[in-house]
Amino acid sequence: MKSIELDVKTSNVADLIVRSNKIVVFTGAGVSTESGIPDFRSPGGIWSKFDPEDFTIQKFVSDPESRRKQWKFLINGGLFTNAEPNQAHLAVAELEKLGKLDSVITQNIDNLHQKAGNSPEKIFELHGNMNWVKCLNCNKRYPMEHIRKRLQKGEEIPDCENCNGMLKPDVVLFGEALPQDVLTNAINHARNCDIFIVIGSSLIVSPASYIPVYATEAGAKLVIINMTSTTYDHIAAEVIHEKAGIIMQRILGNVKTKI
Ligand code: APR
Repeated sequence: MKSIELDVKTSNVADLIVRSNKIVVFTGAGVSTESGIPDFRSPGGIWSKFDPEDFTIQKFVSDPESRRKQWKFLINGGLFTNAEPNQAHLAVAELEKLGKLDSVITQNIDNLHQKAGNSPEKIFELHGNMNWVKCLNCNKRYPMEHIRKRLQKGEEIPDCENCNGMLKPDVVLFGEALPQDVLTNAINHARNCDIFIVIGSSLIVSPASYIPVYATEAGAKLVIINMTSTTYDHIAAEVIHEKAGIIMQRILGNVKTKI
């Protein structure tokens, strides 16, 4: 994108932000790639290396071999616990500091919005969070770190210390329903914001991918910052096909000169 065009677009988004106090930010895996976490559908992304079919809830609960494989994937790097927030996460946290952010709706499970400084009560995690493990029998929750230590000592399929029930990372697997309360809350916030900013999502996987539409139907302006085109570019007020880190920093820099 030409520099002059980028200046106009980032300035337009900054103007929208300056005029708003109820911004909802919606993020996908693309907001975390600059933190070293691969996304799912870019070339070389997770689904080019692993079969999504191996990550269904049906397989997890019915096939011990699938459970062993999934725990092994998580422990051998699938957790990315050493990842740090990047410039895009920090810019979203800055929006909250400026009193402009209503909430963050994220499809990510990497906890990077919390690490960047956004208030947990403002973050709706549609697909859960990798920091926790839940027992499917008694609902007891464990910090992932605790279970990781058990796996590193050689356990392959950890079970519940309370009832010997099946343990599962507290994230939404394929075929599993999204947490209804989180989804309902996220949609309500989307329907009551001035601007809805999508960062780093292909907007392919429903029901999350409908949320930007609920926002625009309720009158919000849609901004999409994504390296590649998305299904909803045509209904956005501004679309920027560039890397989120640099763009979000440029936008926030622009906002701070205007307020
Ligand atoms: N800056 C901006 N956009 C980026 C960057 C970046 N640095 N890196 C990647 N992207 C864009 C890609 O072009 C892609 O369109 O981010 C998007 C990421 O899309 P997906 O990989 O499909 O990830 P996401 O939209 O989060 O997928 C939704 O699908 O498989 C499920 O559970 C999984 O939560 C995930 C859901």
